[in-house]
Amino acid sequence: MKEKTLHIGIFGMGTVGTGVVEFLMRKKGKVGNFHFSIEKVVVKNPKKKRDIFLPAGVLSFNPRDILNNPKIDTVIEVIGGYHPAGELVLESLEKGKNVITANKAILAASGDKIFQKALENNCYLGVRASNIAAYRLIESLINSPSQIEKITGIFNGTCNYILTGMEKKNKDLSHLLKEAQTMGYAEANPAEDINGQDTAHKLIVLLGITLGHFPSTQSIYVEGITNITLQDVIYAKELGYRIKLLAIAQREENSLEARVHPALIPDDRWLARLEGVENGLEIRDEAGLEIGMQAPGAGKYPTATAIIEDLICVAQGKKLLLPAQNSPLNLKSIGEVETKYYLKFYAIDKAGVLARIANILGEHDISIESVIQKGKEDKKGNIVPIIMLTHYSQEKNIQKALEEIKKLPVIKKDPLLIRVEEGVF
Ligand code: HSE
Repeated sequence: MKEKTLHIGIFGMGTVGTGVVEFLMRKKGKVGNFHFSIEKVVVKNPKKKRDIFLPAGVLSFNPRDILNNPKIDTVIEVIGGYHPAGELVLESLEKGKNVITANKAILAASGDKIFQKALENNCYLGVRASNIAAYRLIESLINSPSQIEKITGIFNGTCNYILTGMEKKNKDLSHLLKEAQTMGYAEANPAEDINGQDTAHKLIVLLGITLGHFPSTQSIYVEGITNITLQDVIYAKELGYRIKLLAIAQREENSLEARVHPALIPDDRWLARLEGVENGLEIRDEAGLEIGMQAPGAGKYPTATAIIEDLICVAQGKKLLLPAQNSPLNLKSIGEVETKYYLKFYAIDKAGVLARIANILGEHDISIESVIQKGKEDKKGNIVPIIMLTHYSQEKNIQKALEEIKKLPVIKKDPLLIRVEEGVF
């Protein structure tokens, strides 16, 4: 078999870019029958100290050294963020270069345009590194002969690291976020990790490649982990659950439910047992067939490996196509979701309080599965947390009930709601 060489330009040499260069250098530019030659690496900051020594003439500060170089056939974009990454990706495709990107933010914001540009210019567009919890399933997602009905995933390594750390190390969110940053898991702007946006971007990319169109971030419900406390993780554990940041998409005929939020999962389920930076994805198709994949959700080498897998696809001459456009689906609002709920109220510890809360829930057709009243979290005062697990209820009823409950004089803080997801394997 004739050996093929790809000539590569890399935009960005942060954690992931360094991982790609290190991988290719370790392999002496050869993986299988293919050669990968790094022609240029373009970085923004010439003064930044780098961990890696590039051959003379490879490092550049001018994007034109990649864009206008006819020898470069394949571009890897690992800058992250919207600008200039989005423009560089589009221009590379316009110039007929294959593009591999780890950038879920630009794919979520402009996936339709970017894929269209790749198709028009007959280029490969590699998106595996945009969601490394799912990357080995990307082709089966695109080529699935049967309709995908449900996707449930843990898509953010930083959040899973934080939630697991709360349980195992008894540390709080801000402390664990700093650790995740040190490990190279978090985004340049870590707010995107903990506010759920990064997970939403990854869900949108998966929906884009399975459905053929990318819903906007604004059209799906997104809630991060910032309201989850160490106490909630402990209470959930006592009740037999673990808290995970989930991305869920479920299709029913012409409607689509897409949401990102923390959720309690029964602790014997596979997704509940993914710890630290480990992420996972489970998919159910229309015939009920379930498949899953587990992988580290962040980090230098796991992300670099996903990029290398796309490089091999380019070398093999594969074309990544979007599925045929489906008829548009109506996105359900969060109020239409029906699930179980974990509710936490902070109330004055006196006779009749529980009954008043239960009464309001009952008036909104919400049935309670279990209740626990905990001791005071703070030694002063007379306020106690009350935890309730509901049976399946419609979210709009829950929201209305919580609005009424929080106005009761005996309630001292806004109630907390965490959805409970039992339909995972
Ligand atoms: N910040 C992301 C995460 C990196 O923690 O999952 C991988 O996309």
